[in-house]
Amino acid sequence: MSKPTIILGIESSCDDTAAAVIKDGKLLANIVANQNVHKAYGGVVPELASRAHQQNIIPVVDQAIKVSGIKKEEISAIAFTRGPGLMGSLLVGTSFSKAFAMGLGIPLIEVNHMQGHVLAHFIDTPEHQPKHPDFPFLCMTVSGGHTQIIVVKDMFEMEVIGETIDDAAGEAFDKAAKILGLPYPGGPLIDKFAKEGDPKAFKFTKPRIPELDFSFSGLKTGFMNFINNESARDPEFIEKNKNDICASIQYTIISILMDKLKEASARTGIKQIAIAGGVSANSGLRNTLLSLEKELGWEVFIPKFEYCTDNAAMIAITGYYKFKRKEFASQEITPMARYALK
Ligand code: KG4
Ligand code: ZN
Repeated sequence: MSKPTIILGIESSCDDTAAAVIKDGKLLANIVANQNVHKAYGGVVPELASRAHQQNIIPVVDQAIKVSGIKKEEISAIAFTRGPGLMGSLLVGTSFSKAFAMGLGIPLIEVNHMQGHVLAHFIDTPEHQPKHPDFPFLCMTVSGGHTQIIVVKDMFEMEVIGETIDDAAGEAFDKAAKILGLPYPGGPLIDKFAKEGDPKAFKFTKPRIPELDFSFSGLKTGFMNFINNESARDPEFIEKNKNDICASIQYTIISILMDKLKEASARTGIKQIAIAGGVSANSGLRNTLLSLEKELGWEVFIPKFEYCTDNAAMIAITGYYKFKRKEFASQEITPMARYALK
């Protein structure tokens, strides 16, 4: 039998330190260390993020190797996130990967984080092999840093046909949460409170942006003014209406996303629709997509929760497919804070 291909994936682009092991295309371990240090600041503090990565990276990699049951000498290559992301954070994962690969005498594979989010749809485990989307498909990548609609022509050819001109969808969630006095990251909390609220209780104006692009900064300002005005009238406004406020702002964000996604599907004629990135963990978004599946004849692909938010399984799977193409990086490689999708 030929030697198995074992890829160690490393992700450190923002505030999660993650490592994963993929053997012959099947995920054996997927470890993520979240950073709680940012909670009090209402957003990721880059300097604190890189320090926490430095502390977490060795234990996280060590645990991924232990859980996978492989020996480190069996690893075929190390795939790491080169960008986009926070430079200080990326440097920790990149430097660690370079040193580890050099120590083991194995190749390095650089991965674009956004390509990783898209290829999260191709993660299989030994027990579970979900149906993968066929090419071409549309992928809406919605995270704390990005909001893009991508035509995925194949694993390595992706065309961005729409993106945000200001804030990302995740930022819209997080900033709305901050205005409500909720800790960072606020997206999951808005999701939680929204489940008990009325999405039509309050109406917020949607932006008018041409083509397939998005904008969320106007919504944030409108939301802030609304909350300030209502709170001036009744200091307990937020407390009394938390569920309805969360449901209404979530409904508006989802509806902005869906308007453009529907338009993208109509323009391209593509009906295989995937979502990726942290915001695709949102239950309102997931349910809306599932209802559109019937209404518009779409086939919808939604990753498991753990593959939506930042993780290293998506980096390892991208690395696995790059390994097959022998796309290796040199030891001179440096991270890139900005890294466009090809
Ligand atoms: O992909 P990700 O983990 O990191 C980036 O690459 O940015 O996305 C993080 C974003 C944060 O803005 C977070 O609030 C949002 O994803 N998020 C959610 C949910 N879970 C995570 N937003 C809404 N609902 C959720 N359930
Ligand atoms: Zn991400």
